[in-house]
Amino acid sequence: MDRVVVGGDKHPGRLHPVSHKTNLPVAVVGDDGTVDIAPDGSPVALYLRLPERAAEAALVHDLLPAGGTVLDLGCGTGRLAEPLARLGHPVTGVDNCPQMLAALRDAVGVCAEISTLQLGSRFDAVLLMSYLVDDADTALVRAMLGTVRRHLRADGFAVLERQPPGWAATCVPSTREAEGIRYTLTDLDRADGVLTATIRYEFDGLTAEQRFSVRDTDDDRLAELAAAAGLRVEAPLNAEATLVLLRTASPA
Ligand SMILES: C[S@@+](CC[C@H](N)C(=O)[O-])C[C@H]1O[C@@H](n2cnc3c(N)ncnc32)[C@H](O)[C@@H]1O
Repeated sequence: MDRVVVGGDKHPGRLHPVSHKTNLPVAVVGDDGTVDIAPDGSPVALYLRLPERAAEAALVHDLLPAGGTVLDLGCGTGRLAEPLARLGHPVTGVDNCPQMLAALRDAVGVCAEISTLQLGSRFDAVLLMSYLVDDADTALVRAMLGTVRRHLRADGFAVLERQPPGWAATCVPSTREAEGIRYTLTDLDRADGVLTATIRYEFDGLTAEQRFSVRDTDDDRLAELAAAAGLRVEAPLNAEATLVLLRTASPA
């Protein structure tokens, strides 16, 4: 966890570059001068500000048996874990940022790295949301999918969230606004099938920038990654095919 301190005499109201390395926080400016940034560059304040993911929670709930258990990998502040827990599911949320986990109320938080997680228990559903599967580091993605498989019951299911297939190859600089948050995609750089770009978030007088590197997770790549982890792709769960249902392909 990096605590980025800006403002004051040294950097009055200016973006303060912290790092240009991929997936590390680049800049944060806040009136109070401090914003917590997760190791992957996600600003905690943004996730506290965003609404719960009620639609995705309902979708997962409908697939689960009553009281079925859930493991939410990269749960953040629990935007999905919390509504699922309130729907009667024992939910374990995993994140490597303690400040994100501090927001959990009904879900149980585990502060850990996803790729090496060994909880020693299995779940009816394992979630790997928020484009973690798109990470440009294929070895990391393989390890995260191994974690999914390792924690899945033989009759359980997984839900992955990816960007729309083709997004990394075709997206352009843009700005959009939703729920009072302005998102600006900028500084795009493409090389060897990897998109590296910066997303700027502006909300409540705060500005945060997150540099990230991703690949397109098209159906072929997803099928290959899943098979290597002992999983199989069953079906897309929405029209954009960004939410995908997987099941076990082999004993683990
Ligand atoms: C983009 S946020 C999304 C959070 C949540 N899934 C949501 O929909 O609001 C990604 C979260 O995954 C966590 N994360 C990213 N990579 C991780 C890793 N390798 N191990 C553990 N947590 C990770 C970050 O700390 C962050 O809280």
